[in-house]
Amino acid sequence: MSRPGTTATIPRERIAALMERERERFASGHQRSRKLHERALEGPLLSGVPMNWMTRWPGQFPIYFAEAKGARIVDVDGVEYADLCLGDTGAMTGHSPAPTVAAASERLGRGITTMLPSEDALPVGDEMARRFGLRHWQFTLSATDANRFAIRLCRQVTGRPRILVFNHCYHGSVDETFATLSADGRVVAREGNVGPPVDLAETTRVVEFNDAGALERELAYGDVACVLAEPAMTNVGIVLAEPGFHDRMRELTRATGTLLVIDETHTLCCGPGGYTAAEGLEPDLLTIGKPIAGGIPTGAYGMSDAVAERVRARTDWDNADVGGIGGTLAGNALSLASVRGTLTEVLTDDAFERMTALADRFEAAVARSIAEHGLSWQVTRLGCRAEYMFAPDRPRTGAEASAEFDPELDALMHLYMLNRRVLMTPFHMMALMSPATTEADVDSHSEAFAEAAEELTAA
Ligand SMILES: Cc1ncc(COP(=O)(O)O)c(C=O)c1O
Repeated sequence: MSRPGTTATIPRERIAALMERERERFASGHQRSRKLHERALEGPLLSGVPMNWMTRWPGQFPIYFAEAKGARIVDVDGVEYADLCLGDTGAMTGHSPAPTVAAASERLGRGITTMLPSEDALPVGDEMARRFGLRHWQFTLSATDANRFAIRLCRQVTGRPRILVFNHCYHGSVDETFATLSADGRVVAREGNVGPPVDLAETTRVVEFNDAGALERELAYGDVACVLAEPAMTNVGIVLAEPGFHDRMRELTRATGTLLVIDETHTLCCGPGGYTAAEGLEPDLLTIGKPIAGGIPTGAYGMSDAVAERVRARTDWDNADVGGIGGTLAGNALSLASVRGTLTEVLTDDAFERMTALADRFEAAVARSIAEHGLSWQVTRLGCRAEYMFAPDRPRTGAEASAEFDPELDALMHLYMLNRRVLMTPFHMMALMSPATTEADVDSHSEAFAEAAEELTAA
């Protein structure tokens, strides 16, 4: 172990050697998952998995899960995990929370989808308004759809062609948002963008998070319908807003007639009304999805009175099913019953208090190990989620966060945790707390993290 206060350098060969050992351990402990994966690769599943990003779990093949309940997952080889991934927020409620299951089960036998509104729509709309401070709501099947529809409405009511996003943002599979800044500051398609319909520079302006000067410059063109922003970036590690940034963004958007759409899909971790309620933001529209129905497909977008009035005035009611926003199953009765059950009994004020305390415990333990082993890493907490990154400085922008990414260490740490029965979100070192998560779950991670830190820095 290196002494506290000194900076340990981790030899790359050590990372490679540990990775080899962990891969062997993984393969020998997951024979049944391996067999299922080999069978899947023979053809029934294009990429060996039902959705191609499931290939991005650590290890030589994905583990197949048999059961998930609360904050625990059991795989087909009988291995039980503390789940800190929680479906990348889709299961922030814990898996299959009883009130959601009860509300959904009660609905299942009485009609799932009908093209008609169900009574749940009213209390659910009221509760969304109470939590997020926007009065008018619509429901979709995913957060991606909520963002797509919000953007389209913003373009329609402002008559402007472009949107603005922050460099290295993620808002789901929304065409306009896969834009990033090249080294020389041009708007280009993000790596891995599949089949883009048009050049991203035609649809999107991009600036760095926390760069109010660049935001002012780009909004001054007067062609941006809306800024679409997570209030703190969560998909490139956590990038927190600096003091004053949100106020300035709001001033600039108002001054230029640009609508502000806040995407709370992940930042709901900040409390029952997300970051928006916790920090008193005043967006024109707000989008969300993933956990609000306990994992049953649902998304939602809300808007202020002023925006709602403009939307109503521009809606062609006779063609409301063909206008670029829609979805036959959107707003279905099963989703809305599940939202009701989840918001009233699962993601409650009390639950957030406990979840946040657990994230605190996680952060403190990781920070302690980092300091004890002289690692030049850092950990950041945002409400009930926490994340560590393998660089000394907390990033201020998406570009800085992206530059800090260390793919080898990241892969090793994910597999190391998985082999010690802790699941972390696959794409980065994020841990999320649910109402069902226990201190023991957090401590399993803390112990594994300390063990990894010890092995990585041993003389
Ligand atoms: C901030 C944010 N918005 C929207 C989405 C899209 O969610 P979904 O893939 O469930 O549509 C994601 C997905 O990770 C997200 O992180």
